[in-house]
Amino acid sequence: MSASQTSLTFQHRHLLGIEGLTAAELTMLLDMAEDAVAVSRQVEKKRATLRGRTQINLFFEPSTRTQSSFEIAGKRLGADVMNMSVASSSVKKGETLIDTAMTLNAMRPDIIVVRHSQAGAVQLLSEKVACSVVNAGDGAHEHPTQALLDALTIRRNKGRIEGLTVAICGDILHSRVARSNILALQTLGARVRCVAPTTLLPAQIGRFGVEVHHDMRAGLKEADVVMMLRLQRERMTASFIPSTKEYFRYWGLDREKLACAKPDALVMHPGPMNRGVEISSEVADGPQSRIREQVEMGVAVRMAVLEAVARRLPEC
Ligand code: NCD
Repeated sequence: MSASQTSLTFQHRHLLGIEGLTAAELTMLLDMAEDAVAVSRQVEKKRATLRGRTQINLFFEPSTRTQSSFEIAGKRLGADVMNMSVASSSVKKGETLIDTAMTLNAMRPDIIVVRHSQAGAVQLLSEKVACSVVNAGDGAHEHPTQALLDALTIRRNKGRIEGLTVAICGDILHSRVARSNILALQTLGARVRCVAPTTLLPAQIGRFGVEVHHDMRAGLKEADVVMMLRLQRERMTASFIPSTKEYFRYWGLDREKLACAKPDALVMHPGPMNRGVEISSEVADGPQSRIREQVEMGVAVRMAVLEAVARRLPEC
């Protein structure tokens, strides 16, 4: 079945997370994204799929790459895209969120892409509006399009996801990217390892069905993919690491630690990177790095997601 035929079976109006999606649904989105990669590599990149539709990018947290990626994706599909950055005061967050949602809803958008610092905020917003809602990252909960773009990057490079060993390393505790990736990769049949110091792992990590490693070299052994995470210092409420220098020594990906993984292991990072903290520049810019390709796949995956949810929108 071609991607356009399978996409007819995507049954969700929103994309709030990877949780609850089946392997078939994830694969369908990845197949649709492959088509979008081809479109994005042409001179004429514009499609009419979302012509007449209004997409609002509502970002309560600052973001450059995710917001611009969603903006380019929407524009390539022909939507009118509006960016709204809202600085949220921590006290009034709940109220501000609902008020903003109701105000925007009255303007009759078709899709709202939301990023918020609180887990669950995107779901709450989706319950208040009449349009489709796409989660662009909510607190430490989920970041579904990041997991999809990571899966697409892996599949394009390795030809499959099933049976691969993926090591997710670093600040897993504060990472919505890690959570969405664990769910997506496991659903698609990969073995997932979480490699981190105890202070940067969620207490309930055992429930995720992942292998846990507290030693970087052991955790990377024979891995097909090494996924590094940013040390999210802005989310840290206490001292989770002794110093960034010491962190790099034990947990930073350098050439020597990478040598523990398979020789053709892919190096990935969602960005923005702290060079010299979780990854050395040599590795980030080295031959195994797929970090720039991830950015390209981000636009394609977001085009696929926007198209898939838009198919559930009413025609009138
Ligand atoms: C990620 C995020 O915001 O969760 N970045 C991104 O989407 N560009 C990862 C991160 O901030 O470290």
